[in-house]
Amino acid sequence: IEELSLRPHKLSQYIGQDKVKENLSIFIQAAKMRNESLDHVLLYGPPGLGKTTMAQIIANEMGVQFKQTSGPAIERTGDLAAILSSLEAGDVLFIDEIHRLPKAVEEILYPAMEDFCLDIVIGQGPSARSVQLDLPPFTLVGATTRAGLLTAPLRDRFGVLSRLEFYEVKDLTAIVERTADIFDVEIDGLAANEVARRSRGTPRIANRLLKRVRDISQVRGESEISLETTRKALEMLQVDDSGLDHIDHKLLLAMIDSFKGGPVGLDTLAATVGEESQTIEDVYEPYLLQQGFIQRTPRGRTVTPKTYEHFNREVPQT
Ligand code: ADE
Repeated sequence: IEELSLRPHKLSQYIGQDKVKENLSIFIQAAKMRNESLDHVLLYGPPGLGKTTMAQIIANEMGVQFKQTSGPAIERTGDLAAILSSLEAGDVLFIDEIHRLPKAVEEILYPAMEDFCLDIVIGQGPSARSVQLDLPPFTLVGATTRAGLLTAPLRDRFGVLSRLEFYEVKDLTAIVERTADIFDVEIDGLAANEVARRSRGTPRIANRLLKRVRDISQVRGESEISLETTRKALEMLQVDDSGLDHIDHKLLLAMIDSFKGGPVGLDTLAATVGEESQTIEDVYEPYLLQQGFIQRTPRGRTVTPKTYEHFNREVPQT
């Protein structure tokens, strides 16, 4: 319940992602003026930046129902057919991890998106026949970590492609203050900024860290979450001054110590640190790349001088 109520319900309450909000608010307004369903929207970007929240807001702003599923949850064409035929005019269908839809399921999605038409095969073998059902116009909102993970035909059927970016510290500070307000706790401005600065540009991380900081502050009997307690809590949580956690450390130090700073291939690195390649690529690497701790080269990943400096290591001379 608390998790749900942390999410803003309207575009005007959503902090950050100004470009995405500006575009969507115009497309929503135009669709409403024409009494049409909104074009299909693809939201992409690293986890925790608010793709699901944005999808819910789209439904809310359009004044329609929100239905949610995910790529891996739809195993057979019949599963998708059941979902699609339950939609009412204008509804938003949110498919998280849309790049993980099975191929056969993806193929029945094409005519559904393009012509609001469901092509299904009933029966098997010689008696199998194909039937077509009309669907009400609906809006598919798909979410994925990288647009490049989608097949071209699926990507081409979205009218709106919006990339969510890492949040600026000022926006994350406002989110931390908003969440503290919902929790009904006071937080010092510098403490809110500290959580924000160390949250990897990600509201989900900021809110998670804030919960733990709040716990420690409460046990300490503070009337307001202080900067000192925040720093202590983040240290306990093994979040360093740049917001890197112990997995980031493991990755970067493996690159330095086992691969002389790289280049090292993703799969080799993944095997060395015992994480999935996909998790490294989708969850850890984007922020490290954005902050300039690593670079991608044709021969693999390398660390940068900034990484050596971060760990107080001497930058190797080449
Ligand atoms: N909570 C989490 N993300 C948020 C955002 N972008 N705006 C407002 N509140 C949030």
